[in-house]
Amino acid sequence: MRESVNLSLPCRPEYVSVARLTASFVANQMGFDIEAIEDIKLAVGEACNNAVLHSGNSPTYQLELKNMESSLIIEVKDSGRGFDKEAYKAPELGQLQENGLGLFIIKSLMDDVEIQTFEGNGTKIIMSKDVE
Ligand SMILES: Nc1ncnc2c1ncn2[C@@H]1O[C@H](COP(=O)(O)OP(=O)(O)OP(=O)(O)O)[C@@H](O)[C@H]1O
Ligand SMILES: [Mg+2]
Repeated sequence: MRESVNLSLPCRPEYVSVARLTASFVANQMGFDIEAIEDIKLAVGEACNNAVLHSGNSPTYQLELKNMESSLIIEVKDSGRGFDKEAYKAPELGQLQENGLGLFIIKSLMDDVEIQTFEGNGTKIIMSKDVE
């Protein structure tokens, strides 16, 4: 790993833009193009929104941005309520829906996504994007 940026952010919506801005800065430093930077910002925003909105009693969450030279690995970790991954259903794309799109968007925009979550034991989403 070349370098990494670590942030601990309050679970409040106002701070999600700090996460998005920091991610776009790191992605820009690494040489991602504008389109990829927009994808990264969107994915980070969705992961952070989930930590803020769904983690429950977690006062803060952690964002880590790892510059791996040929890829950017991003981890968003909270210590909230977690959720049942098996019960998660991907959205029906034929149907218009306002919610339940965040994880789908993250998986569509990033090259690799792993979700570690246990009910009552927090959630960690690890996503990566390759420098083209
Ligand atoms: N960090 C988290 N902690 C607890 N539950 C989570 C977390 N992230 C996701 N979930 C659960 O997974 C579900 C799906 O998340 P997803 O982001 O796809 O949709 P959403 O947040 O409900 O809606 P949207 O992101 O479109 O506003 C959430 O409704 C929530 O139940
Ligand atoms: Mg969401």
